[in-house]
Amino acid sequence: MRILIVGGSGFLGSELVRQAAAEGHAVAATWRTRPGTAAGADWLPLDVRDRTAVLDLIGAFGPDVVVNTASGGNMASGGNMASGGNTASGGSDWVTTAVGAAHVAVASAAHGARLVHVSSDAVFSGEAVTYAEDRVPDPVTPYGAAKAAGEAAVQAITPTAVIARTSLIIGDGGSGHERLVHGLASGGVKGMLFTDDVRCPVHVRDLAAALLELASSDRAGVQHAAGADAVSRYELGCLVARRNGIDPARLPYGRRADTGLRGPLDVRLDCGLTQRHLTTRLRGAREFLAQPRIST
Ligand SMILES: NC(=O)c1ccc[n+]([C@@H]2O[C@H](COP(=O)([O-])OP(=O)(O)OC[C@H]3O[C@@H](n4cnc5c(N)ncnc54)[C@H](OP(=O)(O)O)[C@@H]3O)[C@@H](O)[C@H]2O)c1
Repeated sequence: MRILIVGGSGFLGSELVRQAAAEGHAVAATWRTRPGTAAGADWLPLDVRDRTAVLDLIGAFGPDVVVNTASGGNMASGGNMASGGNTASGGSDWVTTAVGAAHVAVASAAHGARLVHVSSDAVFSGEAVTYAEDRVPDPVTPYGAAKAAGEAAVQAITPTAVIARTSLIIGDGGSGHERLVHGLASGGVKGMLFTDDVRCPVHVRDLAAALLELASSDRAGVQHAAGADAVSRYELGCLVARRNGIDPARLPYGRRADTGLRGPLDVRLDCGLTQRHLTTRLRGAREFLAQPRIST
């Protein structure tokens, strides 16, 4: 297959490039500020805010599948894992996240490519705590609103597309969430890990494998691809610390509810329906963080 990874230079995008290339696909990947380093792809500059550029690039490469991981804003701080230095909403770039999603959908449809669009649990408020694939988004942050708008555009333009919502993406040290744990433990970053802010973290390898599986399936519409365990950001921090040989006692913690920060508290993606159609198992954080890191 010919696969285009939009946002291939990002954390998830790089893993998608690695796995798609390892599976023998012809891979092109895009970057905005600097090319990615993963081998096996043709690296192409692209800003999804530029509709014509998106149409031209997809037309020129002629992909069978487009996976759109591009998103504006900082996903790690958007999660409010720590209070210090982070805003309630995280950075959010409406045009990239919402309008850019529409541009990629229009270009994919125009050139007959199947689209897998990556979305987020940030589309939910947390009021219901557990969210299945058919729940209607009720975002409470600008980032969540932009992701929800992106989803709506993709659904309207490309009804056969997969919209894959995920949660905190963790790896073998490279994610913003893991770097934050190191920064907090060393005192280099000020803030705390919240004991009442709960998500379902996923390992980047599981997520990339699930997305590629969905790309070659006939699934359409919203899919949930998060990890099996609901953990607080503090528990997640402790798991990362233990795996990396850091004393979890060094991690500052507290209740987000006491900080007055706006945003969802407890959001758990129910992935049951999606998981039933996947051979890739979406492991929980307690499982994948109990294992030693694999260097890539
Ligand atoms: N990380 C998480 O915990 C998390 C949780 C839930 C959902 N998600 C979703 O998962 C996806 C991937 O997340 P990630 O952590 O891998 O993100 P990331 O590391 O920040 O990568 C984002 C990618 O998008 C590119 N990008 C940003 N603005 C762009 C623009 N205007 N035009 C084209 N490309 C642009 C970035 O390029 P530059 O770096 O050059 O700007 C980068 O390649 C996103 O859709 C995000 O919303 C992430």
